[in-house]
Amino acid sequence: MLGANGPTGRRLVHQALVRGHQVQALTRHPETFPLCDDRLQVIAGDATNPAVIDTAVAATDAVICTIGTAFTRHPVQVYSASARLLVQAMSGHGKRRLVVVTSGGVDTTHRPQGIAGRLSRSVLRNRIGKTVYDDMEAMEAVVWASDLDWTVVRPPGLTEEPGTDYAIAPERIQDPFMSRDDLAAALLDQLQDHRYVRKVAAVATPGLRVSGWYMFHREVLKR
Ligand SMILES: NC(=O)c1ccc[n+]([C@@H]2O[C@H](COP(=O)([O-])OP(=O)(O)OC[C@H]3O[C@@H](n4cnc5c(N)ncnc54)[C@H](OP(=O)(O)O)[C@@H]3O)[C@@H](O)[C@H]2O)c1
Repeated sequence: MLGANGPTGRRLVHQALVRGHQVQALTRHPETFPLCDDRLQVIAGDATNPAVIDTAVAATDAVICTIGTAFTRHPVQVYSASARLLVQAMSGHGKRRLVVVTSGGVDTTHRPQGIAGRLSRSVLRNRIGKTVYDDMEAMEAVVWASDLDWTVVRPPGLTEEPGTDYAIAPERIQDPFMSRDDLAAALLDQLQDHRYVRKVAAVATPGLRVSGWYMFHREVLKR
């Protein structure tokens, strides 16, 4: 798993262990990784390092990538660079199943409803988060062009609320938020669910509501 030490990644690793999986968790900061288990191997390294990705991929059957980075005015490359290395390493090692997380914000055909939705699209996608979303699009293009059994998972705004259950659908879901617990469950389910192989899956937690200010404060200003 890439991005294993992030807020979604930690939940993902925990849930994977509960389900009985063997887990290889990649992080640049293994000293801060909070989980420990006989079936967990923590791999230290940067996902833009070809040798690190090659070693991590060789040790696993399937890859789930929740890598993320802060909004910045500077160009972002970590999504697409890690995807390129993953595709190369997985093809070389004969590994097929790749599940990557991007965002509902990269769906350029989506016309958000309401003033808040349209404002959020124009400010987040086209200004504050432009370089991040641009690189998520580049990541998707890399994954789509591969021969792997890939799934691109696009969640909306992520929250710390407890998971309830998630909705999944091709391309788009209108619900604006998703619990990270639910995202972790949805990602793990993809390892058994082949409906979205070589497809984009939109996911969300139906009915979850948090204030726009909460999201802005917690998920944008934190970054
Ligand atoms: N926040 C939202 O509302 C939102 C909405 C839609 C989609 N998403 C996407 O959902 C996913 C999960 O988001 P999140 O907020 O739970 O996590 P996150 O805060 O974006 O963090 C993910 C982790 O990626 C790792 N990472 C970053 N650069 C790396 C590199 N070069 N090499 C290795 N690891 C690297 C970091 O771990 P280490 O520092 O330990 O290496 C980080 O903890 C991300 O892909 C994000 O872009 C987020």
